[in-house]
Amino acid sequence: VSNESYDSRAPGSIASHSDLCAARDLFPAATTQVHLNAAGIGLSSSRASDAVMRCLDSLERDPDATHHGGTADRARAKAAKFLGVEPHTVALAPSTSAVLVLAADAIPLVSGDNVVTCNLEFVSVVLPFLEKCRASGAELRVVEHDEGRVHADAVIAEIDERTRAVVLSAVLWTNGFRLDLEAVGASCADARVPLVIDGIQQVGALPLDVTRCGISFLACGGHKWLTCPSAMGFVYASDDFASRFRPTYAYAPTAVPPEGDWLTAWTDPSFDPFRLFEVPAGARRFEFGIHHAVLAAAAFEGSLDALLEVGREVIGTHVLRLSDRVADGLLELGLAVVTPLEAAHRSGITTFRAGSTASDDVALTNHLRARGIVVSTRFTNRVGGVRVSTHLYNNDGDVDTLLEETARWVADSKA
Ligand SMILES: Cc1ncc(COP(=O)(O)O)c(C=O)c1O
Repeated sequence: VSNESYDSRAPGSIASHSDLCAARDLFPAATTQVHLNAAGIGLSSSRASDAVMRCLDSLERDPDATHHGGTADRARAKAAKFLGVEPHTVALAPSTSAVLVLAADAIPLVSGDNVVTCNLEFVSVVLPFLEKCRASGAELRVVEHDEGRVHADAVIAEIDERTRAVVLSAVLWTNGFRLDLEAVGASCADARVPLVIDGIQQVGALPLDVTRCGISFLACGGHKWLTCPSAMGFVYASDDFASRFRPTYAYAPTAVPPEGDWLTAWTDPSFDPFRLFEVPAGARRFEFGIHHAVLAAAAFEGSLDALLEVGREVIGTHVLRLSDRVADGLLELGLAVVTPLEAAHRSGITTFRAGSTASDDVALTNHLRARGIVVSTRFTNRVGGVRVSTHLYNNDGDVDTLLEETARWVADSKA
């Protein structure tokens, strides 16, 4: 499924009801609260908890074997499978923010160069490139949104012969606008400009075809739509990106061992660490600090198992259908929906205004949370409001509860 062809209103798009009921059962908290906050922190599944418990048990019995037993390899392979890419293009990542720093670090910039982004980005997308542009004298070109929309044409218009990267989120975090990455990616490919994407608000909710979108580097934490209970996610690096760019640091777990493997090197009495180390060929050059994070890797693998059992397409269709139900219901209540509602730009996020001020949004968010309905208030550059996220573990009943309680709050606040 292409990024662009996702149409929430396509006929026959209702996901298998039994698959989704079974999936909901995998998330214990889905029935104890109305959790509509996957864009903040997603619920985690019993598959993840079981995987952590098995890993803990194994660590207690045999830490050596557990640390070297392939847990991280399996998590990498699962993430690659989930994304639909070759395993060597994926590495584990402690967070989205951390690996965006690695991308900024790897891309050389000098005075006169430029990097293109937009003004609705999350701080972690902007910050590493802002710092690097400041330090190098390069220009950060910031495309302005148009009523919450970041148009591909506007991004493409900023690309020139001195552009060294285009850095964007697949789905904008405050209003859920999904960018036309296929169009941006095609222009980046023509200009040989790396397309660096923060995928955390899309991957796990809607399929993202990194090849079709021409993505060079994708950063994605696991704790939102990938339902991972711990700090673990992944980074995807295209072969082209990994062959052109390398991080400026090298450290033992991602350096290529001098004698084939570290054990051979370290059992050689003449081993001397002062030498030129190489970094691996694929995405592993961008892996950082994962070496002993077996519990988090196990959690990540278990989380991906749950999502793979249901299937990316089934999840995507369900997420969009519920998102549309939320938007329709809010419009019926006479509330302003901030999220642009064109099908090609929809995601799992629907944002609306509870009133005319941010205090109204916060008041409604608090009111809902006090009643076990978890949503968030988020803004960037004046775009935002009450953010509702619908995921695979949500059902129509959750949407009804949200709308009923919101209607009550609106009626009471007018009384
Ligand atoms: C778009 C976006 N990127 C990154 C993050 C932070 O992710 P991480 O904690 O994995 O760095 C968030 C969290 O709110 C986000 O919305």
